Amino acid sequence: MKVIVAKDYDELCRFAGHFVTRWLQMHERVVLGLATGNTMIGFYKVLVEKYRRGEVSFKNVVTFNLDEFVGVEVTHEQSYHYYMKKHFFDHVDIAEDARFLPDGLAKDVLAECERYERLIKEKGGIDLMMLGIGKNGHIAFNEPTSSLASRTRVKRLEDETVEALAQGFGGKEKVPRYVITMGIGTIMESRHILMLASGKGKACAVKDMVEGPIGAYCPATVLQLHPHVFVVIDEDAGSLLTRKYDTVSSVLSDPYEEYFYEGK
Ligand code: GLP
Repeated sequence: MKVIVAKDYDELCRFAGHFVTRWLQMHERVVLGLATGNTMIGFYKVLVEKYRRGEVSFKNVVTFNLDEFVGVEVTHEQSYHYYMKKHFFDHVDIAEDARFLPDGLAKDVLAECERYERLIKEKGGIDLMMLGIGKNGHIAFNEPTSSLASRTRVKRLEDETVEALAQGFGGKEKVPRYVITMGIGTIMESRHILMLASGKGKACAVKDMVEGPIGAYCPATVLQLHPHVFVVIDEDAGSLLTRKYDTVSSVLSDPYEEYFYEGK
């Protein structure tokens, strides 16, 4: 696990944007795994700015999102389909037929989970997976005690996650209880992972993920077993860590920066 501490959210987003841009410049065809949530908004903003300045193109990119709510229309402002269009897809050159999200409106949601798994394989697997983290340590919507070997499936949200989503949906009772989420086993098959976490609210989960023992009670701890994980956090999110970690400026001035993006 390569942990990199940014001064604040702004530096975190700029570094993550730089990281993915370098990645795309260095690889011809990339399958990107994408995440949603507030943390990712600033990161997408940086990517869109870089695209507008002509620094990056998404023409040869295929994307797979981590999750979607079951039974929520794609035009609903809280759906992840809507989020992705609003913050990213509508502003860059990713072909419409190269963007994939689980279909939360599918008649047969279980068959949809299997289809999604097959599709990821057909496209060659995920090269670089973006991840956020929930306050309870969830990744995608793999809530605590999810099997660390799980595949894409339907999950019921824990109360704490429902609470975290309540404001957006206009009240707890309006938050959908079921979601389709990539499984932890599915996520772990990605070749590289870039995890972003910001703010004091994530400090406990980050401490467990980076320095705690591996366990399903905090699904993000499984990332310790992955060979190529980058965890980029701001100082607030890293405030409970006890060891000293790299900073954004130390990484950017490293003469081996190029290797770094290859995960070497
Ligand atoms: C949701 C998403 C996760 C995301 C998490 C954190 O639960 N399914 O993929 O990591 O929110 O979101 P935020 O960045 O808003 O804290």
